[in-house]
Amino acid sequence: MMSNIPADPLTIVIDFDSTFTKVEGLDELARIALQGNPKQQEIVSKIREITDKGMAGEYLFSDSLRDRVALLPANRSHVDQLITFLKGKISDSFQRNKDFLEENADRILIISSGFKDFIVPVVEEMGIAADHVYANTFTYDAEGNITGYDQANLLSQDKGKVKLMQSLALEGEVFVIGDGITDYELRESGLANTFFAFTENVSRKAVTDKADYVVPSLDEFLYINGLSRAQSYPKSRIKVLLLENVHPAAVSAFKKEGFQVELLKGALDENELIEKIKDVSILGLRSKTSLTKKVLDHPNASRLMCVGAFCIGTNQIDLAECETRGIAVFNAPYSNTRSVVELSIGLMVMLTRDIFEKSTKMHAGIWDKSAKNSYEIRGKKIGLVGYGNIGTQISVIAEALGLEVYFYDIVDKLALGNAKKCKSLKELFGLADFISLHVDGRKSNTNIIGTQEFSWMKDHVIFLNLSRGHVVDIPALVHAIKSGKVWGAAVDVFPVEPKTNDEEFINELRGLPNVILTPHIGGSTEEAQANIGEFVPAKLLQFINNGSTYGSVNFPELQLPPLEDAHRLLHIHHNVPGILAQINHVFAKYHVNIIGQYLKTTEKTGYVITDVAKEYSEEIVNELKLINDTIKFRMLY
Ligand code: NAI
Repeated sequence: MMSNIPADPLTIVIDFDSTFTKVEGLDELARIALQGNPKQQEIVSKIREITDKGMAGEYLFSDSLRDRVALLPANRSHVDQLITFLKGKISDSFQRNKDFLEENADRILIISSGFKDFIVPVVEEMGIAADHVYANTFTYDAEGNITGYDQANLLSQDKGKVKLMQSLALEGEVFVIGDGITDYELRESGLANTFFAFTENVSRKAVTDKADYVVPSLDEFLYINGLSRAQSYPKSRIKVLLLENVHPAAVSAFKKEGFQVELLKGALDENELIEKIKDVSILGLRSKTSLTKKVLDHPNASRLMCVGAFCIGTNQIDLAECETRGIAVFNAPYSNTRSVVELSIGLMVMLTRDIFEKSTKMHAGIWDKSAKNSYEIRGKKIGLVGYGNIGTQISVIAEALGLEVYFYDIVDKLALGNAKKCKSLKELFGLADFISLHVDGRKSNTNIIGTQEFSWMKDHVIFLNLSRGHVVDIPALVHAIKSGKVWGAAVDVFPVEPKTNDEEFINELRGLPNVILTPHIGGSTEEAQANIGEFVPAKLLQFINNGSTYGSVNFPELQLPPLEDAHRLLHIHHNVPGILAQINHVFAKYHVNIIGQYLKTTEKTGYVITDVAKEYSEEIVNELKLINDTIKFRMLY
């Protein structure tokens, strides 16, 4: 299946600083050596500036090396620290393709104007031997302080790489991978056939403009040249568009795997999204961007494979249209549940001690010290309506705080700890001192708590709603508060909520005593955002890398084993009879050895995954794509 395989003998010349590793060795050595020195910042910036100018071809190399080493008060122990640091900074795509480096170590040369002292131990980790490294060497005094460098080394001179390559007189084809102008010079001088500008860590226009190829990762280099690699299709070719300033953890998750990632701060309207979605395979959004049929219908959206909602709700996404097009949608159903739990517990304490009223009085200068109507929560009974992700966590924590826990759920749920199940809302409300709602937002839950339900509650109950606004009949709640049935209430969600922070909040609950109102922030914490930022990309990456759809909100759910020693063929189709038979007919026709096969369907869509032995004819792929009712087909290996 490989194409383009380069001629043998092939030598691959790789630069070290900012290519093999993410950083510049000398800059980092300066940083380490100057730790604790008040001039650290100043000297490191100066060295970086010279490095950059040298790389861009604006500073004579020999001058740049001399000036940088002169600024460097380093010794052997600093070099040792640098080696440890650099081993952790090997470029992600080099780490991913360690097998390639090890298997091809004989034809790889590291040619660098850096220093062998730190380069050799780092590249040896990746299977490249010391005698394949060409670089400068430091000179040291008797105490181990760096005094300068070996000036007879060709690589310390201007056009040093060119001079060195001339001396090597390599035969056959030579490829050069690097990020600096001195790497390009090898191609310019005719000593290398092809120059690949490597931009995973830095991209310099002066260099990329001159390159034969610009490669954002080693995967791309290997792909272009048909060489063996960790990624069947380089991730650097797959565009990820993240909107609404999703957490930085999401950006790093995709970048670490080498994807092309764009992060936008704001939401996009329909037309803006149509423009930005061009060539995007993975889209991440939050609640303010709508992914509508109009967007999905547009040819710009034709590459879209999966969508991550970096929130709980998915109303903003046309799930059915996504399914029809074979686009899997994922969300973060649990990531912020702990935040809701903590706030609920805190609010219960606040309400039983009348803290808000007392605090408001204090701000007005009123000292009203009294124990009247203040209670502990210990020993009281809490009634949870809805015993799902949030209800169960409150159950555990409330019990640890000494509350007796009761719950009611329409589904038969396992009681955790000593919690007790109630058969009806009426039973639950008849015994609870605290009532906390944690039901989901389905339509049929509209106004499930109204006048009658309040009448079942004990007098002076504490009432919390952090679930969904439409669940509670607000006029009935207002009446229950005014009549004293409800002694304190905390409400975080409302039937109608302002769409932006500029809109006024209008609700009959405003101005009532011992009522804490919060603007739907139950789940809004930094931790929840970070959890979402990790959870959603993990789901999307599982789908992209392995085909798993576990946790998808609109797709047949399949949790697949890792792909080992096989090729995985993923076939998404309209759920009409006979497709599986047709797929297997193709395999039978070409005598393909099937290692594993998985199938899951929804009413509309079928998802068939077949793991096959690696040797098969390419004809199969074409035939599978041609099966009627195929929506999408892709392969992983
Ligand atoms: P979940 O889906 O895990 O649990 C909901 C439970 O309620 C299920 O066990 C279900 O069987 C039960 N249920 C549904 N209708 C019921 C009814 N009429 N009577 C009794 N039980 C019923 O949901 P999760 O994650 O626990 O979330 C609960 C609520 O919290 C949801 O409405 C969610 O939207 C809301 N939420 C609010 C946040 C905020 O910022 N305030 C943040 C996160 C979630």
